[in-house]
Amino acid sequence: MTLLAIIGGTGLAQLPGLTLSERRVVDTPYGSPSAPLVFGELAGKPVVFLARHGEKHTIPPHQINYCANLWALREAGAEQVVAVAAVGGIRADMGPAVLAVPDQIIDYTWGRRSTFFEGELDHVTHIDFTWPYSQALRRRLLSAAEAAGIAVVDGGTYGCTQGPRLESAAEIARLERDGCTLVGMTGMPEAALARELELDYASLAVVANWGAGKTDDIITMADIEAALLDGMDKAGKLLIALIGS
Ligand code: HPA
Repeated sequence: MTLLAIIGGTGLAQLPGLTLSERRVVDTPYGSPSAPLVFGELAGKPVVFLARHGEKHTIPPHQINYCANLWALREAGAEQVVAVAAVGGIRADMGPAVLAVPDQIIDYTWGRRSTFFEGELDHVTHIDFTWPYSQALRRRLLSAAEAAGIAVVDGGTYGCTQGPRLESAAEIARLERDGCTLVGMTGMPEAALARELELDYASLAVVANWGAGKTDDIITMADIEAALLDGMDKAGKLLIALIGS
């Protein structure tokens, strides 16, 4: 049976429904991952869970060791990775607590280590990234959602900003002109590193708030937390449906 990895983002520091079997502290050639790997069973199937921002949610997006995280999951035997991520909504159908499975990504981050293929190399490697997410895993997520009656938006472009601050209204307007439907801070380099390691990787985005300037209000952490309670509850149910599918 293949091992599914789940990376939990803001609002999902633990996996509801997980029967814990082992908490493993690991090291990698790239340093320590964000947290110990948590092995267990979800709906009777093996999973490994990693809290992207650390167990106590203390690591901001630009300081996450994405290389160590992906490397550790691959070393643990994971072949598929579902990356749960809180995002801001840009397109009109991406309101708070909506779930989406994006199919494209634009990288606006800077200064993050974004490849395993650097340093002492035998040759230069360029991975294909035309479709940054695994279409097979995306389809599995979408069919599991449909079977479980959980509404999910199919597709969309995730714009990945540097953070940790939220965007200005003009930045969100620019992302919208670029074709972004969602905005988050952790989608890159995570997706590209997964591709470099030949892991099947898909994102389950949970909308926490409208992107800056999309409403007259400013964005508060309290509003984000309230939307995530609802959104992550649905995401947890979808993961159980996925694993049972
Ligand atoms: N922008 C970027 N990342 C986010 C947002 C946002 O508005 N909300 C949650 N993650």
